[in-house]
Amino acid sequence: MADPTNLDAARQRYDEVCRIVRDARYRYYVLSDLAMPDATFDELLRELESIEASHPALASEDSPLRQVGAPLDEAFPAVEHLEPMLSLDNAFSEDELRAWSDRVVRGLPEHSVIQWACELKIDGTAINCVYRRGVLVLGATRGDGVKGETVTQQLLTLQDLPYRLTDDQPPEVVEIRGEVYYPVEKFIRMNEERIERGESAFMNPRNAASGALRQKDPEVVRERPLAMWVHGLGHLEGRSFSTYSEYLQWARSAGLPVPEASTVVATIDEVWALINDFTARRHLFGFEVDGVVIKVDRMDQREVLGSTARAPRWAIAYKMPPIEAQTQLVGIEVNVGRTGKVTPFAVLEPVAVAGVTITNATLHNEIQVQAKDVRVGDTVIVRRAGDVIPEVVGSIKERRPAGTAEWQMPTACPACGQPLLRPEGEAHHFCENQECPRRIEASLVHLASRGALDIEGLGDKTVAEFRQQGWLEDLADVFRLPDRREDLLGLPKWKAKRVDNLIEGIQAGLQRPVERLLVALNINHVGPTVAKDLVRHLRTLEGIQAASAEEMAALTGIGPVIAAAVRAWFDSPRHAALVRDLVALGVRTDTDLAEPAAVAVLPLAGMTVVVTGTLAAFSRDEVKEQLEALGAKVSGTVSAKTAVLIAGVDGGSKQDKAEAIGVPVVNEAALRRLLDGEPLAAILAGE
Ligand code: IVH
Repeated sequence: MADPTNLDAARQRYDEVCRIVRDARYRYYVLSDLAMPDATFDELLRELESIEASHPALASEDSPLRQVGAPLDEAFPAVEHLEPMLSLDNAFSEDELRAWSDRVVRGLPEHSVIQWACELKIDGTAINCVYRRGVLVLGATRGDGVKGETVTQQLLTLQDLPYRLTDDQPPEVVEIRGEVYYPVEKFIRMNEERIERGESAFMNPRNAASGALRQKDPEVVRERPLAMWVHGLGHLEGRSFSTYSEYLQWARSAGLPVPEASTVVATIDEVWALINDFTARRHLFGFEVDGVVIKVDRMDQREVLGSTARAPRWAIAYKMPPIEAQTQLVGIEVNVGRTGKVTPFAVLEPVAVAGVTITNATLHNEIQVQAKDVRVGDTVIVRRAGDVIPEVVGSIKERRPAGTAEWQMPTACPACGQPLLRPEGEAHHFCENQECPRRIEASLVHLASRGALDIEGLGDKTVAEFRQQGWLEDLADVFRLPDRREDLLGLPKWKAKRVDNLIEGIQAGLQRPVERLLVALNINHVGPTVAKDLVRHLRTLEGIQAASAEEMAALTGIGPVIAAAVRAWFDSPRHAALVRDLVALGVRTDTDLAEPAAVAVLPLAGMTVVVTGTLAAFSRDEVKEQLEALGAKVSGTVSAKTAVLIAGVDGGSKQDKAEAIGVPVVNEAALRRLLDGEPLAAILAGE
């Protein structure tokens, strides 16, 4: 350390990293711009930490390590928090987690018993809500930790956040802290819609949430599906809690949204097991989760441990592997889908994202490539959230090498050479050649896919392999494969068992009801919902084939555009021939769906039902589908309009709310009776 050259070099690097971190914070918070993936940012902070640790002389008061969050946006009046809002220190491994817990143990009197409260780290934006005598008087963003921006009106539009607490003797003053987030499914849908309209997509749900919260017009915020979870307590007067879990329990009973996944455990081994469990299920929570926060549960122990300027010593954020990463863009190519839609995609220098190595990522369409100004040679940020296709969210312009060129959409289809056209009002280009080999291949893969005929063993690789042999010229050829048993056995790696399984899969595909076949046929606008609507009314393939566009347009759920597309599809001689072939090969042409006339008398028609907790015998999707088939509307939130709450194990806050507002709650056994057609009233009456 006494070595001056060493110190100089360290200072140089330290100053450089400080500059990068400050710039990234400014760009991120003030300009809502893309700076770098979170993981890279975290790495830089850790580098600063390690430089400061070996050269304490460099550490200054205004080191980025001692700053929280963001400069304030002047458009929203600044307000001082009653107690500062701190940030969290991070742990990236089991060792770091254990090192932290050892520090906690050492910081407390010998033989202290510690309970660890573990909860999801929600990737949203932090807020502070001040309730005076149970009424929300102020809502603010975290801001710089001392002062935040007033967003009371905006927060009041959140469905989950009560204006008045349901507590007869509320604390005089309480600062409720939590995270506002954008539910992932809604985020994906919103981005899809934006892309369809040729607008640029939001980078991630967190940006979408903080952007939505800063909309000036509360009415605009109301249209955004923002939600909130409580995860902290600030200033408190007129009440005390001896533990954090007691606080959460109170918050839940007072009508505040408290996440169901909070759990208190007694040992770090259990903490680690929970972390693994939460990590394995991170994509199932409906909101983006980037870690697990572990907190000392007892308030008096928290007092003893205290805080640094930046973060409390009694809590730590274990960070899950990041879902964004930085890599090099090696090329941009285009893919042609089953409808002829052309999608540009990035060819990447392989990079690991959340445990999977990615070599390709979608760029959606030409407009997106232009809007993001992504060029071959760029350093790009890629993101992989759950089952969603990885995408390029942007490029880092500062790192762009000299001499890159803007990307141009090819003018001809890479598969068939026909011109690529972008229809008026469309964000995508299309290859309109029905014979395009890429389109046919993609249609075959679609036909065999889960939502269509669900033919096990016929995935994209197998389709490509069989097409090379010339065995799959059109969709009907799939059902001719069973006649090729000997040919199939002649292929490398196709043992008898595999061939038999495939043939069995194809035979099962033939037996799927006609609404699934309709989806498989790749008709414009016909997905599972439209297919069911058509089949409910028209009953059979022949019935649909015979219906006029006017007749179809008059059906519930079908409009003139869909009707015209279906009619046009069946009118094409090549499709008529395909349908004849399929019928001759034995596809099922009818359905098990109930006739629509029955809709009015469906047992749950007009009722809104909410499901919560874990059910032993059903997945959420199954319950939803079956309840809907009985006419129910299945909603995610309990309100006065809810007819019944079906609660599995760990019903959590929804169950509490239902009980608080008098919505009937039933268990899984009652659900079975409902699904068997028993009237709800009889079940509730205990018959
Ligand atoms: S506790 C002083 N719990 O993560 C304790 N924070 O990286 C402060 N966050 O500013 C927060 N989920 O916005 C806590 N379950 C959770 C959280 C959580 C998300 C956010 C919060 C905080 C940031 C720190």
